[in-house]
Amino acid sequence: MLFSLKVKGYKAYMGALKVAAKVIPMPKPTLFTGEDSSLELCESIAQMGTKKLLIVTDQMLVKLGLLKKIENTLSNNGVEFVIYDGVLPDPTYDQVESGLKIYKNSGCDAILAVGGGSPIDCAKVIAARVTNRRAIAKLAGMFKVWTAPAPLFAIPTTAGTGSEVTIAAVVSEPETHHKTPLVDPKLVPMSAALDAALMVGLPASVTSATGMDALTHAVEAYISQNASSETDSYALAATRLIMENLPTAVKDGSNIKARHNMALASYYAGLAFTKASLGYVHAISHNFGAYYKTPHGLGNAIVLPYVLDYSKENINDRLADLAKVSGLSTGKESDQQLAQMFIDHIRALLKEFDIPEKLEALKEADIPAIAESALKEAHFNYPVPKYMDQDTCEHLIKKMMV
Ligand SMILES: NC(=O)c1ccc[n+]([C@@H]2O[C@H](COP(=O)([O-])OP(=O)(O)OC[C@H]3O[C@@H](n4cnc5c(N)ncnc54)[C@H](O)[C@@H]3O)[C@@H](O)[C@H]2O)c1
Ligand SMILES: [Fe+2]
Repeated sequence: MLFSLKVKGYKAYMGALKVAAKVIPMPKPTLFTGEDSSLELCESIAQMGTKKLLIVTDQMLVKLGLLKKIENTLSNNGVEFVIYDGVLPDPTYDQVESGLKIYKNSGCDAILAVGGGSPIDCAKVIAARVTNRRAIAKLAGMFKVWTAPAPLFAIPTTAGTGSEVTIAAVVSEPETHHKTPLVDPKLVPMSAALDAALMVGLPASVTSATGMDALTHAVEAYISQNASSETDSYALAATRLIMENLPTAVKDGSNIKARHNMALASYYAGLAFTKASLGYVHAISHNFGAYYKTPHGLGNAIVLPYVLDYSKENINDRLADLAKVSGLSTGKESDQQLAQMFIDHIRALLKEFDIPEKLEALKEADIPAIAESALKEAHFNYPVPKYMDQDTCEHLIKKMMV
């Protein structure tokens, strides 16, 4: 009884968020796509009169030489730059502050993120901190970035988070590694480039995990109570592209067409969830990241089929649509059958990608706190299609134990 009253409250709040998503303008970055699009973006940064750029990236990408052509193009176009390569997966507040210090000490006037979701998110928060003097903890939450951030550009090197287009930036508290997303339309970069050539060296395991992150964005946006015809179009396009291209990108990383389509899918999925939001999969997986350092995409991949199994009775029709764009329908199945086929197909993909069905690090003693934290995140942020209480959530997470 008490829980059903609470659910009424959550639903009313999500309804208000839906209205907000409709009336608040959500900017999209100017997009450069295709061969050498990252270099075209660098030329446009010069055309905008940028004098000194802070490049935010990670050491692996510098080591792989992914920045070389970008650096040359900036230099040839008269843009000075300084590199901050201290970003680690799931960036923490101190990494943001280190980047901010370099920005200020070097007299930068704009920021270019080159990397996966971690460098892009770190760059977003550095850009916000340049113009907002409040501590990061005070910027976390919804619509708390009051002043427009420093000019920000993004070149994703993974196809997963869609951070180059979303209103979110996920940074963690240094001690607890608890993720505290900043959600504000001002965080959307001014321009972004989808340059698949930068993704060919992404290892198969990172390709599959980040690709499953993009799929989770599309699916959670499509089954969200706050989905709209616009977010549906993006979510369906992303799902179709992922089902058609992710297996090839994992098997043959040098297949540029598959890499490009995955980059596009990740971008579309970002457009879908930035308005329709996410769900229990992200809420639980964020906590796996905080407790066990489980990579974001891997956590989502493991959790996704369990949450869909739990939610399916309320969303058979929506899952059936996803099955259809995944090429699973022969035209004879009921929605209920198609929904189950879609979930089974996700499980088959996980097997194909060597992604485990369960989380080895998961400890029974942690489950009550993980469930509590996941439900708090979900119920105050995500318009989920079927609510769960503490006991149900604990029971669901227990199924993910080895
Ligand atoms: N802002 C958003 O909307 C949003 C959405 C989803 C997730 N996230 C956040 O994004 C982060 C995860 O980002 P991610 O999954 O892209 O991974 P990541 O940026 O953490 O990178 C994972 C690893 O892949 C390596 N890598 C990246 N590109 C490579 C390339 N082209 N070749 C070889 N190696 C490469 C990196 O060096 C790193 O070791 C998490 O913190 C997550 O919470 C943000
Ligand atoms: Fe994600």
